[in-house]
Amino acid sequence: MAKRQQRDFRISRRKFLAASAAALCVPSIGAGAAAQTLSLSEACKDMFLIGTALDFRTPNEFTPAELDLIKSQFNVITPENSMKPGPVHPQENTWNWTQPEALVTFCQDNHIKTVGHCLVWHSQTNPWFFQGADRDAALARLKDHIHTLVGHFKGKMSGWDVVNEAISDTAGATNGENLRSSQWFQIVGPDFLTQAFKFAREADPSVPLHYNDYNIESGAKHQSSLLLLKRLISDGAPITTVGIQGHWSVTNLNAQKFEQIEQAIENYKALQLKVAITELDVTITGAGGGQLGGQQANVVPPSAEALAAQAEVYAKLFSLFVKHRDAIDRVTFWGLNDRRSWRRGQNPLVFDGENKPKPALQAILDAVNKAK
Ligand code: XIL
Repeated sequence: MAKRQQRDFRISRRKFLAASAAALCVPSIGAGAAAQTLSLSEACKDMFLIGTALDFRTPNEFTPAELDLIKSQFNVITPENSMKPGPVHPQENTWNWTQPEALVTFCQDNHIKTVGHCLVWHSQTNPWFFQGADRDAALARLKDHIHTLVGHFKGKMSGWDVVNEAISDTAGATNGENLRSSQWFQIVGPDFLTQAFKFAREADPSVPLHYNDYNIESGAKHQSSLLLLKRLISDGAPITTVGIQGHWSVTNLNAQKFEQIEQAIENYKALQLKVAITELDVTITGAGGGQLGGQQANVVPPSAEALAAQAEVYAKLFSLFVKHRDAIDRVTFWGLNDRRSWRRGQNPLVFDGENKPKPALQAILDAVNKAK
């Protein structure tokens, strides 16, 4: 054997031994391991889709290990930021298609579905939409925005979050819809939602259309959501699905909260709507909640006790989701791993910063198999 070949052999043998040792410590999760049903999407197939949220900000955004994780665990992706009004449509005549197109192409190449997020929001929306606009001008801009964006990806999407977070966090004086006082609300009025749904339907006659919000599963905000959804339906808004974001924490998911989540699913089902859990994460430390401005600290490994508590909560959530699989068509995690999370520092996902499965993954798989 020539010297160089000998060296290559030694290196590959060393690599092989290291890989074998690693495989003994940590369950592998690559495509080759699908038979071990360590895959979320495999375990939940025939019940609901399992999603993640991410963007291809650069062509080399993800490491091979991350790409392997995406393809082996998830069958639907939501763009975390790139299709929001601000990033995709920063000026009236400027559209940024590179990142959204990269994502949709990746999904199509890998038989993964794509859900669009989001057409109308009070946040991540540039001021040009509202500058000098009366109701008619604002609606004309909204129509153009939705027609262009939904039309661009017509036939390629499995759903669109049409309106995001329209209900206020502060309980109103009256028990009403309590809509957030956004620019859309102030300039167009409360029918901006119905209009947005109709524009989306005009642009794509068959794509599912969602209303998406956080904390709508309990308390005053849940009551507001029921009033709002009933009005949308009676006004002829072509809404198919309500998205419960699911930004929760280990501490706020107590027995009462589980009952409220279950009741909310049943209430939405009674309105003939499908339910999706659209932005699931369960923080170990600190508050959950969907408000912007969560912690962005470095990832500190949590204790074994904290990981076990998180696993237990995730398992209970998935038992509930499986029980209501007739109403639920998708469960999407908001991020790929604890390093790629808007709640980075609070360790909210089921893969750690090194893409390794946390105890929550096995707990979910066990719960799903038991509840099936
Ligand atoms: C977050 C993204 O994850 C962050 O990267 C971004 O800086 C702010 O928005 N509710 C939503 C999501 O509907 O769009 C938000 O995503 C999280 C809260």
